[in-house]
Amino acid sequence: MIQLKNVIKTYGNRNVVNDITFSINTGEIFGFLGPNGAGKTTTIKMVVGLLQPTSGEIWIGENNVLTDKKKIYQDIGVVFELPNLYMKASIKKNLKIFAELYHLHRSRVYEVMEDLQLLDKQKVKVEKLSKGWKQRVLIARALLHKPKVLILDEPTSGLDPNTAALIRNYIKQLNEGGTTIIITTHDMHEADELSHRVGIMNNGEMIAIGKPMELKDMYLKKEIRVEYMEEGNVIAKCLEIGIPETEELITQLNIQGKLISMNRSENSLAEVFAVLTGGQLS
Ligand SMILES: Nc1ncnc2c1ncn2[C@@H]1O[C@H](COP(=O)(O)OP(=O)(O)OP(=O)(O)O)[C@@H](O)[C@H]1O
Ligand SMILES: [Mg+2]
Repeated sequence: MIQLKNVIKTYGNRNVVNDITFSINTGEIFGFLGPNGAGKTTTIKMVVGLLQPTSGEIWIGENNVLTDKKKIYQDIGVVFELPNLYMKASIKKNLKIFAELYHLHRSRVYEVMEDLQLLDKQKVKVEKLSKGWKQRVLIARALLHKPKVLILDEPTSGLDPNTAALIRNYIKQLNEGGTTIIITTHDMHEADELSHRVGIMNNGEMIAIGKPMELKDMYLKKEIRVEYMEEGNVIAKCLEIGIPETEELITQLNIQGKLISMNRSENSLAEVFAVLTGGQLS
């Protein structure tokens, strides 16, 4: 559905997006990950036509983002990091302005306010809202014209866990209704929970792409945590699965009656991220 082909964005003499090629399938939630400055927001801005690539092509369905800009606006909704709302206007007014821009019936404003539980606060000026509520207004606004694709740049950053969970649930619900979602986040649990596939960007390059499970299998050792008795002490060790040394040790411990417990340790997307982007694991 969305295709990027050899996309480059250069600032000065630096390629902040350095020849990336990938696609996002219709109906999937795509988690777009990477350290600060990796190039995620720049890429997203190019996908939605807000920034012009230095070179390369971007397609949304049949439409080339560069040449069919008007057509893509019908297909996409966008939620960016910094709230760009009319601060002095109420929630309802903010939504109405956009509904008019898109020539939508005003009943649609009430529908989205209902969906995002904004009806009670509809008359409140946006400047008086907390970050989480502003975020809901931004999402409501992005969804007014029922876009096929919703792009969210760090939609849960800085939100309390309950509000973040509410937004995640809403994203899942939208996706179940058929909306394709692209989301950037620094929360690896969130990325793992939500994404059908993730792409990890680093220094302007897409360094890995796949289902979270596939990436864990590809980049992390599968380990098992064993606890056993040795000379009166309890020893805990992580052992690599699938190698003869581990099988031998476990068999020995079992025979000798020394084995206390064995637990398959769960690999996390945060570990994949750390391995691929050179971060330190604490
Ligand atoms: N207008 C600009 N002029 C020059 N450099 C820019 C400009 N916009 C972004 N950059 C640089 O491009 C790089 C990528 O930035 P970008 O905002 O895309 O990163 P990001 O992956 O979204 O990071 P974060 O996780 O912090 O949001 C950064 O080094 C940034 O400083
Ligand atoms: Mg960003």
